Amino acid sequence: MDKAELRRRIVAARAGLPDPRGSATAIRETLLDQPWVQMAGLVACYWSSGTEPATHGLILALWKHGTTIILPVLRSDDDLDWAVYDGPDSLAPGRRGLMEPVDTRRGVDAIRTAGLVIVPALAVDAATGVRLGRGGGSYDRALARVGPNVPTVALLHEGEIVDGVPAEPHDRPVSMAALPSGIVTF
Ligand SMILES: Nc1ncnc2c1ncn2[C@@H]1O[C@H](COP(=O)(O)OP(=O)(O)OP(=O)(O)O)[C@@H](O)[C@H]1O
Ligand SMILES: [Mg+2]
Repeated sequence: MDKAELRRRIVAARAGLPDPRGSATAIRETLLDQPWVQMAGLVACYWSSGTEPATHGLILALWKHGTTIILPVLRSDDDLDWAVYDGPDSLAPGRRGLMEPVDTRRGVDAIRTAGLVIVPALAVDAATGVRLGRGGGSYDRALARVGPNVPTVALLHEGEIVDGVPAEPHDRPVSMAALPSGIVTF
């Protein structure tokens, strides 16, 4: 199956989920229980939209805990700039209607300073951790800047770890996936 077909299938499956936001609570609680999440001083995350596993509660919990959170600002070239999340009033709609932080932009290299990187994905390959995104290549570019010892976690609904995710040379794997049933390490 090629990337486009796999994307269509997963997007359709997500649209059919009775409660797409329902994955969020279990994922949030699992992640907040991990020492490497609690101890990451700076976390790069994303403000979820639509049927993505929701990150809003996770971001709020980390922020209240004192973690610094950076969120992406989509650039016109589809690369990702980053800015600090500073509470519910620090976001405004950006390109494609996605909520983005209004704080000063820290540049595409800001992700290099993160101790934990949480990314969206439609699917992750069961054997390799290669992730399939929505097709902009934005997270491939961002993940290429992350050091090999920094945990990178894709958030998924149940069943989205699959065999045979097509991989091109530019595709970056994640080191883990977090699902409602728990964390999978690659
Ligand atoms: N480092 C890069 N520089 C420029 N373009 C890139 C880079 N990495 C990937 N791309 C381009 O992005 C496009 C989409 O890539 P791909 O299909 O892997 O997206 P994706 O992984 O699903 O999306 P995303 O990374 O945003 O989640 C491809 O045409 C690819 O050439
Ligand atoms: Mg890719």
